[in-house]
Amino acid sequence: MNILVTGGAGYVGSHCVRNLCEAGHSVVVYDHLEVGHRQAVDPRARLVVGDLGDATLLGNTLSEGSFDAVMHFAALADVNESVNHPLRYYRNNVVNSIRLLEAMRDHDVKRLVFSSSCAVYGIPPAVPISEDMPKNPVNPYGRTKLAIEWAIQDSAAAWGLGATALRYFNAAGAAEDGTIGEDHDPESHLIPRVLKVALGQGEQLSIFGVDYPTPDGSCVRDYIHVEDLGDIHRMALDTQPEGCFRCYNVGTGRGVSVKELIEAAREVTGCDIPATSAPRREGDPPELYADPARAMSDLGWKPKYTEIRRTLETAWAWHRANPQGFTGT
Ligand code: UFG
Repeated sequence: MNILVTGGAGYVGSHCVRNLCEAGHSVVVYDHLEVGHRQAVDPRARLVVGDLGDATLLGNTLSEGSFDAVMHFAALADVNESVNHPLRYYRNNVVNSIRLLEAMRDHDVKRLVFSSSCAVYGIPPAVPISEDMPKNPVNPYGRTKLAIEWAIQDSAAAWGLGATALRYFNAAGAAEDGTIGEDHDPESHLIPRVLKVALGQGEQLSIFGVDYPTPDGSCVRDYIHVEDLGDIHRMALDTQPEGCFRCYNVGTGRGVSVKELIEAAREVTGCDIPATSAPRREGDPPELYADPARAMSDLGWKPKYTEIRRTLETAWAWHRANPQGFTGT
């Protein structure tokens, strides 16, 4: 298939691009490189540097490529930042996604896999979270993802778009061969922050909230490996029916607390990793982990990385080899 991947230079996008290239697909990455990295783009893919807000460039790219499908990752994805700058999130995530959908409709591209988030559920009534639980996002980031899902769902009904929204939990880890990994600036995510402390790039880790109603008081998350995300994106595309909207929760089905994760990182790295209690971070739900049963039965997908230590080992190998991220390469 000819596939356009928006945000294909970003963390999850770049791992999915590699997966598609390895499966023999022809990939064009569309990315403005403000968040993503040129070095993260698989050399087998063609890179178009541009913004989704640039309707002319997007239209020309779609006209030239005769694409069978789009994978849409391009988005801002920092929950805390979205609380302080909501309009930036609505413009980048919602407005630009609508531009993409219009361009797809105009160029008759009818297959889409969308990078959604467990943030659409907000604080769920129970865990594990299944797809039919209420969607009540508690931060602007989650609301933008839900708004895009609605636009996609309505497009499926109106003009035959076939689309899958993959609501993933916490993307984690790095390519098993160590070639690409996670590099955000600024870095807000737990695993890279923990590993930076292990590398001596920070004195200690702040644990945001130790008074949550969870077994050890710290937040619980479901860390899903980026290579498992690559597999499910490809499988969703391969099985996408026309004119139909599907959504899947993508996680391991296991919750890991912040304190447990730090302990596992101490074992994997052999480093001390000092950590201290800090106030709660605004917009953080206490406990999120997936019920991935629907994705497993419909798509035949199964996560390969189910132990947090294995996931941390791949992340540690990347961070140790690239202590300054992609800029140091
Ligand atoms: N945390 C700390 N200290 C840190 C950084 C994070 O204690 O220095 C905690 C957070 O408070 C949270 C957990 O570690 O409890 C995980 O935080 P991340 O920032 O790594 O990830 P989030 O759970 O906030 O975000 C993820 C995805 C989003 C998604 C969101 C849903 O990155 O895309 O889950 O809540 F929307």
